[in-house]
Amino acid sequence: MRPGIRKTVLVIHIVVSVALVGEVWGLVALNTAAALTKDLELAHAAYRLMPILVFAGGIPLSVTALITGITLGLGSHWGLFRYYWIVIKLVLLVAVICLGMFLFDPEGMAAATEGARQAVATRQWSQVAVLCGQIAMLLIATVLSVFKPRWKLR
Ligand code: HEM
Repeated sequence: MRPGIRKTVLVIHIVVSVALVGEVWGLVALNTAAALTKDLELAHAAYRLMPILVFAGGIPLSVTALITGITLGLGSHWGLFRYYWIVIKLVLLVAVICLGMFLFDPEGMAAATEGARQAVATRQWSQVAVLCGQIAMLLIATVLSVFKPRWKLR
């Protein structure tokens, strides 16, 4: 890739992948507040608003991070399956996307807190746990991206 194009793709990659860390952190804060509050209508409203963050943030950011990451790998001396730090990031990002698709369920939580008399605490805290797992994986990917350990795949 010509240096100008690589740098442009790299800027987009850094912006979207680090923005993803911020988006998931926002969801951790919202879900923790929803789990802690005694005001179930507030929790219900929070769960109803979360899909906006997912569809306007999480999905486009994670898909763009994946596409630009693969492009950078294939278009630079790093390659895609040459260094462990890139393969680990690929696995981490796919895991983050799968956790979001299969385990994060704000619509279900909105339904569960609709007119609910008692909090659905266990389910609420399991949502927080899923999001904390995503944050941990994204932070590992960010650290790997800066230190770029030289371990090469055979
Ligand atoms: C999980 C989310 C990800 C985060 C937070 C992330 C973050 C970053 C950051 C901050 C950099 C810049 C590092 C620097 O220049 O010092 C970077 C570079 C890079 N990333 Fe990612 N990345 C992610 C996912 C991916 C994926 C899935 C791939 C490949 C499949 C990938 C491939 C690359 C490559 C090849 C570079 C180096 C580009 C270059 O210097 O030419 N990244 N990444």
